[in-house]
Amino acid sequence: MRMILLGAPGAGKGTQAQFLMNKFGIPQISTGDMLRSAIKAGTELGMKAKQVMDEGKLVSDDIIIGLVKERIAQDDCKDGFLLDGFPRTIPQADAMKEAGIAIDHVIEFDVPDDVIVERMAGRRVHPASGRVYHVVFNPPQNEGKDDVTGEDLLVRDDDQEDTVRKRLGVYHEQTEPLVGYYQSEAQAGNCAYHKIDGTKPVAQVKEKLANVLTA
Ligand code: AP5
Ligand code: ZN
Repeated sequence: MRMILLGAPGAGKGTQAQFLMNKFGIPQISTGDMLRSAIKAGTELGMKAKQVMDEGKLVSDDIIIGLVKERIAQDDCKDGFLLDGFPRTIPQADAMKEAGIAIDHVIEFDVPDDVIVERMAGRRVHPASGRVYHVVFNPPQNEGKDDVTGEDLLVRDDDQEDTVRKRLGVYHEQTEPLVGYYQSEAQAGNCAYHKIDGTKPVAQVKEKLANVLTA
């Protein structure tokens, strides 16, 4: 199964990706996580990406498209994958199409901006695994520690309120047009499109996803 998770920053893509990758046995491809790993490793890509990400802007299409194509070509993606945070612009979506990479399901997480700002303020992450928590809405079993490894949880550099607001602006301007793009693809019979109410609690969103994807 090949899936795209579409939605604003903080809409819950990474949270539900953890559930979906286990349920369907497919890898999560998070372009944000890939870029953060590159920053941590101090690679040339990481150095280029850091400033752009800290400003809440998007990394260039060329770089991202190359990164994703390379990742999809790996062996563990042959039975499917879960794209989290990609595509994020029309040229990125077109590049997938031109490369003949068909998509089965597009899932849109619908969450208003004010809810998102509140979520980001309490987000904590375990970078090595991609697991995501919230101090109130999805707390870890032990405060500040990852449930599986017990390692420290971190706050993402781009989660300050002013950066979050910039990222939301970028989302509405550059990524939201993909809603219409994939709805048209669905109408043409090229994929299924599911819009999910992402304001519901994590467990309810999970249940809804399981229902639409097995229906
Ligand atoms: P990326 O890492 O992709 O960030 P994002 O899209 O902005 O999304 P987030 O990871 O912030 O949110 P999410 O939807 O995964 O929410 P989460 O589950 O964590 O990208 C970062 C940067 O990298 C970009 O700004 C850009 O610079 C660059 N980049 C990445 N991809 C790119 C691309 N394709 N092209 C160009 N540049 C790119 O949840 C958020 C919080 O809410 C958590 O605390 C969670 O516990 C909580 N939560 C989740 N669900 C619920 C719920 N149902 N109820 C209550 N709380 C919830
Ligand atoms: Zn994420």
